[in-house]
Amino acid sequence: MRTSAVAIKDLARRVNRNENIVRRLISHAATYHVFFQEKPDFFIHTAGSRILTENEGMRSWMLVGLGETMPGALKKDGVYKMALISRFFKLLPTCLNVRRSATPMSWHAQLPGYSPQYLIDHFPFGSGDITVVDVGGGIGHIARALADNCPTVQCMVQDRPEVISQAEQALPVNFQDRIRFQPHDFFQNQPVHGADVYLLRHVLHDWSNKYAQKILQALIPALKPGAKVVLNDRIIPGYGEAHYLKEREARYETNAQERTPDDWKSLFRDTDLWFNVMRISKPSKSYLSIMDVAWEG
Ligand SMILES: C[S@@+](CC[C@H](N)C(=O)[O-])C[C@H]1O[C@@H](n2cnc3c(N)ncnc32)[C@H](O)[C@@H]1O
Repeated sequence: MRTSAVAIKDLARRVNRNENIVRRLISHAATYHVFFQEKPDFFIHTAGSRILTENEGMRSWMLVGLGETMPGALKKDGVYKMALISRFFKLLPTCLNVRRSATPMSWHAQLPGYSPQYLIDHFPFGSGDITVVDVGGGIGHIARALADNCPTVQCMVQDRPEVISQAEQALPVNFQDRIRFQPHDFFQNQPVHGADVYLLRHVLHDWSNKYAQKILQALIPALKPGAKVVLNDRIIPGYGEAHYLKEREARYETNAQERTPDDWKSLFRDTDLWFNVMRISKPSKSYLSIMDVAWEG
């Protein structure tokens, strides 16, 4: 990694872009401490810029944000959104220089505040045999944490086919009798009937109510009485409940829907009256809350 400052004109030549634009962009980034201006027109790396070069997870997270979700956030809900989000999720598993064990989401789950440990510690998975279907479960990083911590849990991880084939190849042998994978589009009826828990972690906040309801409706034919739908997702504070800077952080996603506790309850009520939101909790220091919803149909 270069440690001496680089001149804007050299940088512009290297990236084959207009010098004036490069100067403006880098100078602007420097106001956020991404690059540092050592002297006029000479910039040097900071921790904030180095991480984008050296950390594949962070880099891919920024790329999907800037290239995919931001353009979508500026459009309105509807067909475009459906196309956008599908393209985004198609890109997601492959946008890394694919080391099979890492996708942006499994990298994301390593960030403080997003650890699966909060879910494990606060959700009563119980001590008996229990089957969990992790819907939109990525490469199975949450299922692995569950299997590691809850010795009686059996997991089925469902996701898009391209994610599942990546996940199957990455699964360590010691998990193979506890975790299985299944390609499944969560807008289609749930194929695993009679599981104890259907987990949706960090999934529904990507979707507006119209699509979030479709995802929940698709679960219904598979639910046995007393089955749990467990959400591990963001909850934004209600009016006056948090400092506005906290609220700003929580409202980062647009053209999807971040929801207050009341919004989440309405989503379930509007989907089907047999959903009973039993408990909503937020472990201290966790960015995600846990919603424990029983199917009483
Ligand atoms: C934000 S990620 C959450 C991943 C994981 N649950 C977690 O908490 O880290 C959303 C996941 O939904 C999956 N997904 C998107 N569209 C899907 C669809 N139509 N059917 C099934 N999975 C889908 C993505 O591939 C991705 O793994």
